[in-house]
Amino acid sequence: MTASHPGPGSPPPGDPALEAHACDAQRRAYAPYSKFQVGAAVRMVGGEIFDGINVENASYGLSVCAERIAVFAAVNAGARQLAAVAVCTEASPPASPCGACRQVLLEFAPDPAAVTVTAVNPRGERRSWTLAALIPDGFSGKELP
Ligand code: THU
Repeated sequence: MTASHPGPGSPPPGDPALEAHACDAQRRAYAPYSKFQVGAAVRMVGGEIFDGINVENASYGLSVCAERIAVFAAVNAGARQLAAVAVCTEASPPASPCGACRQVLLEFAPDPAAVTVTAVNPRGERRSWTLAALIPDGFSGKELP
């Protein structure tokens, strides 16, 4: 059994570089109000990684989640096709993306069933899903006229 061919029951290999980006970013989070620091990293088709952190505001509703900052950084750089996502928080079990971020991730997922979303914490705990599992029957935009 090799690491690249895990057997039945083995955890998926994950994306250690992407998870490291998310946890590095988490240290830069600006979360003085909630004290809940979030780092995110997205890997785009083609391999490029973009990071994000949550950025809060004294007017609480203006705060923006880490996942959205990461996706918007990718799109701003011209990368629009999402391949994988990692989110790093202190939560145990690791915290999955909020509903609003799931919808934003869906916008840039060519195949939501092929996008892996992994939640981690700095202590090495991890959980993964496909984006399709996190937002089943989501609003894709194909419904629009
Ligand atoms: N937060 C994220 O950055 N991502 C999520 O998916 C959930 C919540 C942030 C928003 C706010 O700054 C803090 O975590 C507490 O909700």
